[in-house]
Amino acid sequence: MTGRLARRVAGFGTTIFTEMSALALERGAINLGQGFPDFPGPAFIKEAAAAAIAADINQYAPMPGSPRLRQAVAAQWERDYGRAVDWQREVTITSGATEALCDALLALIEPGDAVIIFEPAYDAYVPDITLAGGIPLPVRLYPPDPTHATWWFDEAELRAAFRRNPTLIIVNTPHNPTGKVFTRAELRLIAELCQDHNTLAITDEVYDRLVFDGGAHVPLATLPGMWERTLTINSAGKTFSVTGWKIGYAVGPAHLNQALRQAHQWVTFATSSPLQEAVAVALEQAPVNGYYCDLLRDYSERRTRLQQALETVGLPTLPVEGAYFISADIGALGYTDDRAFCRWLTTEIGVAAIPTSAFYSNPTGAPNLARFCFAKRLETIDAAAERLAALHTRL
Ligand SMILES: Cc1ncc(COP(=O)(O)O)c(C=O)c1O
Repeated sequence: MTGRLARRVAGFGTTIFTEMSALALERGAINLGQGFPDFPGPAFIKEAAAAAIAADINQYAPMPGSPRLRQAVAAQWERDYGRAVDWQREVTITSGATEALCDALLALIEPGDAVIIFEPAYDAYVPDITLAGGIPLPVRLYPPDPTHATWWFDEAELRAAFRRNPTLIIVNTPHNPTGKVFTRAELRLIAELCQDHNTLAITDEVYDRLVFDGGAHVPLATLPGMWERTLTINSAGKTFSVTGWKIGYAVGPAHLNQALRQAHQWVTFATSSPLQEAVAVALEQAPVNGYYCDLLRDYSERRTRLQQALETVGLPTLPVEGAYFISADIGALGYTDDRAFCRWLTTEIGVAAIPTSAFYSNPTGAPNLARFCFAKRLETIDAAAERLAALHTRL
């Protein structure tokens, strides 16, 4: 019997992450490709999870999420952004940000609706839009140049995309893969365009705690006129270094949560109860136990260490304002094909990275970069640096 594959998923193929991770495993390479920490999450969250299981918080959680966790998320919004959030109607807990993104798109767009994304884009957006029958409308982010200190987009191109009356825009800040943190001015422009064109916004803020050099994370939902039309998605995975737990959450007005829940109730219905309890404890404790400061300090050190390792071997790095990835300019080494470079780096040098062209729906004209993840122990980064030193002799 030949395999059956519905058209809606047939085009998805195998992701570059799966391919590079498999190659890294096969060749014993140090995996700086896929974005997950190789160090443990903090003791207070792991102890809370063990305690929750021992206390028999093990049956189905309520469909919208554990009350304690929804209350902790609402309290965080009140504390950080001065926004009183109704935990019962304005917060929903999902199986990771991944589920929240998919639910939101399934619930909010009709077949044929256009959805703006900034490219390079986190790899789930295009498949999620496609699954919901929508049409991705990419707007390019351009790498820093002599007139732009960081990644930027062309206002005229964004305005042109909005003239196609998109139902929705997805904004990811801090941004994967570029490390861009959208400025308040950029977000103001997006907010103005959303309101002019009656466009909804989904923001993916899973790296909100990782903004370096004194920069600030600004949620689009906090700008005037945006709360009513924005669903803000976050996840405990990155913040607490427990990516395997898949506890995500969506915050926004009741009507958008209600829509999201329409999909959520039939996709997963509810997500792990003891882990929700543990994330609630973590969100309650982190603001008072210094965790967020320690997290940022440790990531800053890892960022510097990896930047130095790449620069030392002749790979210029692009500025990283947030998240935990560094882009390196492989053109400086004479490479013109980022996929070929990343395969070669994995098999011959023993360090895996992700080609940036993989984050474009049409990679023609994509910058020639490789993305390296620094959510790794300093020893891992140092071991990668030792291997990268061989680049000089192998080129
Ligand atoms: C930008 C972005 N959004 C969402 C996710 C997925 O989050 P989760 O693991 O909570 O599903 C990731 C994970 O790499 C990410 O980088």
